[in-house]
Amino acid sequence: MSMINQVGEPLVCLRSRAELEEYRRVIHAQRLSDKPCFAFCAGTGCLALRSDKVIAAFKAEIKKRDLEAKVDVRETGCPGFCEKGPLLTIYPDEICYVQARPEDIPEIITQTIVEKRIVDRLLYSDPVSGKRVINESEIPFYKHQTRMVLGNNSKIDPRNIDDYIALEGYSALAKSLFDMSPEQIIEAVKASGLRGRGGGGFLTGRKWEECRHAPGDIKYVIVNADEGDPGAFMDRALLEGNPHSVLEGLIIGAYAIGAHEGYVYVRQEYPLAVENVNIALKQARDLGLLGKDILGSGFDFDVKVHRGAGAFVSGESSALMTALEGRVGEPRPKYIHTVISGLWNRPSNLNNVETWANVPLIINRGADWFASIGTKGSTGTKIFSLVGKVNNTGLVEVPMGTTLRRIIYDIGGGILKNKKFKAVQTGGPSGGCIPESLIDTLVDFDELTKLGSMMGSGGMIVMDEDTCMVDTARYFLDFLADESCGKCTPCREGIDQMLAILINITEGRGENGDVELLEEIAKVTQNASLCALGQTAANPVLSTIRYFRSEYDAHIEQKQCPAGVCKALFSFYIQPEKCQACLRCLKNCPSGAIVGGKNQIHVIDQEKCIKCGICFDVCPERFGAVVKLSGEPIPPPPPLEARKIRRRNSSA
Ligand SMILES: Cc1cc2nc3c(=O)[nH]c(=O)nc-3n(C[C@H](O)[C@H](O)[C@H](O)COP(=O)(O)O)c2cc1C
Ligand code: FES
Repeated sequence: MSMINQVGEPLVCLRSRAELEEYRRVIHAQRLSDKPCFAFCAGTGCLALRSDKVIAAFKAEIKKRDLEAKVDVRETGCPGFCEKGPLLTIYPDEICYVQARPEDIPEIITQTIVEKRIVDRLLYSDPVSGKRVINESEIPFYKHQTRMVLGNNSKIDPRNIDDYIALEGYSALAKSLFDMSPEQIIEAVKASGLRGRGGGGFLTGRKWEECRHAPGDIKYVIVNADEGDPGAFMDRALLEGNPHSVLEGLIIGAYAIGAHEGYVYVRQEYPLAVENVNIALKQARDLGLLGKDILGSGFDFDVKVHRGAGAFVSGESSALMTALEGRVGEPRPKYIHTVISGLWNRPSNLNNVETWANVPLIINRGADWFASIGTKGSTGTKIFSLVGKVNNTGLVEVPMGTTLRRIIYDIGGGILKNKKFKAVQTGGPSGGCIPESLIDTLVDFDELTKLGSMMGSGGMIVMDEDTCMVDTARYFLDFLADESCGKCTPCREGIDQMLAILINITEGRGENGDVELLEEIAKVTQNASLCALGQTAANPVLSTIRYFRSEYDAHIEQKQCPAGVCKALFSFYIQPEKCQACLRCLKNCPSGAIVGGKNQIHVIDQEKCIKCGICFDVCPERFGAVVKLSGEPIPPPPPLEARKIRRRNSSA
């Protein structure tokens, strides 16, 4: 029997630490059974792949076969390997099935529950060796990770507080309230070396201390779940999958700082995170873990959820607080830090979702344990959102100081289609691009900054040999130009000017001196912008100039895009001696730009070509007739009478 009723409300209210421990004991006793637990991922990624239908099929089938009493079914959060979803893990044996479909359910039940065998075809198959892997933790993507913060996502139902409590949840809160003074908590967080996971990497304990000592009776603690970096979803996964870990950290922080009101600022585009956080808040409140006199300690604290309006800049601390006040989310000068004068000019401590989720771990396992993980200046683990041209994409949690090589090759499984690795962009849109020669860099706050990039909130985009680095800089500047709030001139104009120059270069209008001009504008934008959006916006430009200068020169001087990405700088060309007149390019060209016919060499009409690349893609590899030419003139087409193919293979 659960301690939660059918509509998800706890049946008791805990009035002391002893009652919390007794509650935990009862839950443990209820859970002690040898029933297999079928944990289905119900995170946003798997839901998009229709895990809801898989779960519904499972529930219907066990009902039909009268097996409901023999198994537990759990809908969990996202463990990070969404590309293989829908995911199903069966505990205690930790058998992991990937890409499960509703049609697979009868076989899963027959084999796994009734016959106690494994459905081989649903196991993860290693793309290189073809070997099937049974256990989740043995899948290479997970095997090399240290999932301290993310680990419970695949074990608990985020909508059931009992699941969190059963795994020692809220024990750090009880320890903080009853065994530690606010000063001791701050000392522990300081000693752990925890640095903010939202971008700046500021020491969390120091920030808390400043806020605690700031004058004023009313103080606020805030969770930053704006997560505006394109492609990043670590905060979403945590809030959706383990909201209580974030809330527990927040309550501990509030107690240490002396705040009685808190906010979760979460982006509008995260409906499931909003829903799960609201459920978590209600359950925590009902159970006596939030609200008045938490666990009978005399400490009062409650939390409201605020939905952001979807602007990247609103994730910046002062902009976020302005938005919370109900105004347009624009940054303000921070001569006085927000820990002294933030929300409604009161001392306010803002931390990222992942930062808050680390706090219960530090309190429970100790500052020394935490500080022993990672590097001297960057302790603990970090969750990265690994995306781009890599075989395994998803959320990766590793100790700080792990090399880029380990993340990209051992965990990410290497580069897609065995292409050559070119660079990795870290730190979100205003991060920098790190080249292949630095792949053995240890990833931590300071090392990435030294290389002209940054940790940011953990975005990691892998690029292969087909990526143009000038175009990459243009892409990120385009994003930042859109997202700059426009309040300060250096950011608004600086980004626009850099973008205009980059567009010129990628469209073949680059001039000598453009790179130097970019560097000059970058410096002003860095130094004079109001907030870190402008101050870091030049990173994509400066890092690509630093490591890929020859690509800028090729674009400007030879009007050549070496990677063949910038449309204005390359043309598709059909090599007459290789064309077999197979008609594929001609039939597939959407703009009718290919002339030719049966037994006739094909020719691209360059005036009509829209450079979509379909001819390149459909030309059979064994012919390899279509090529990209950049920085050189296109040879004239053969005269009409020379286009006839005599020895052909038109059935190709
Ligand atoms: C343009 C911009 C966007 C930001 N977006 C986020 C965000 O989405 N989430 C986040 O935690 N921090 C974001 N930050 C960093 C915050 O300003 C702030 O440093 C952080 O929330 C503090 O928490 P931490 O110390 O735990 O990292 C952003 C900063 C800038 C300049
Ligand atoms: S949503 Fe299921 S693995 Fe991410």
